[in-house]
Amino acid sequence: MKLAFAGKGGVGKTTLAALTADYLARLGHDVWMVDADTALSLGQASGLSRAELPAPLVQREELVRERIGMGLLNLNPEVRDLPASLAVDVPLGSPPLPGRRAGTKRLLVMGSVSAAGGGCACEANALLKAVLAHLVLEQGTHVVVDLEAGVEHLGRGTASHVDGLVVVSEPSRRSLETAADISRLARELGVLRQVLVLNRDPGHAQVAGITELPATVVRVPVLAGLVERQLTDPSVLTLPESRAMDVLIQSMLHFLRSM
Ligand SMILES: Nc1ncnc2c1ncn2[C@@H]1O[C@H](COP(=O)(O)OP(=O)(O)OP(=O)(O)O)[C@@H](O)[C@H]1O
Ligand SMILES: [Mg+2]
Repeated sequence: MKLAFAGKGGVGKTTLAALTADYLARLGHDVWMVDADTALSLGQASGLSRAELPAPLVQREELVRERIGMGLLNLNPEVRDLPASLAVDVPLGSPPLPGRRAGTKRLLVMGSVSAAGGGCACEANALLKAVLAHLVLEQGTHVVVDLEAGVEHLGRGTASHVDGLVVVSEPSRRSLETAADISRLARELGVLRQVLVLNRDPGHAQVAGITELPATVVRVPVLAGLVERQLTDPSVLTLPESRAMDVLIQSMLHFLRSM
């Protein structure tokens, strides 16, 4: 499956992307994790230390120049070799699920255009989009993309090959309005399979009255174990609530597959 996670800042995109990638790998799949978020935290949320994170793609100026050029941009660069050469292996949070082999997780850190080195934002963005498109278009792979707030990184061609968009929101009016905007933009790009994850839901949050939100809602409660864990450790894996989260993620994936 190719999944993208989007939503307003701080709503839980990275947390859910890290948990989903780990779940897929524990099911036996080989998963590409793509950090396309400004905060670059998918690796740390998956248990890597800062020192283990690769340099963001957008900051590799020579590589950007080599593949994209300067001025006259090559918008169709050769990128097939890049995922394997730029990614780092990420250990699974816990053993594979019963009866399954251990899959793998590999992390690619894209960075965001705003974080790109001086003056080459367009070039870096073109390379980022090309790598993302390559991963998403490749058949048979599993991809989990932690997006910046919106879906801008997914061009039209890439977006239509995403199997599912997970729009993450807190149960607040503002967060839900952003979620509705993202959902609409993604639909316009051709991403029709979408779920809304209502994160930190007290259980009774209403989403009525906001049109254009994904029709299917998965509710994730406040995870006390995560609140405690985050005081000392950025990893979101192996929480006391991990089993319950596996069940929620399984139902989220089931909804997306059956759309
Ligand atoms: N259900 C939850 N219960 C408790 N804490 C949570 C929950 N979901 C996320 N968090 C915590 O909230 C914080 C923000 O989550 P996260 O980093 O996943 O959000 P984000 O949408 O990726 O943010 P950003 O926009 O900065 O990238 C983290 O400290 C995370 O551990
Ligand atoms: Mg994030």
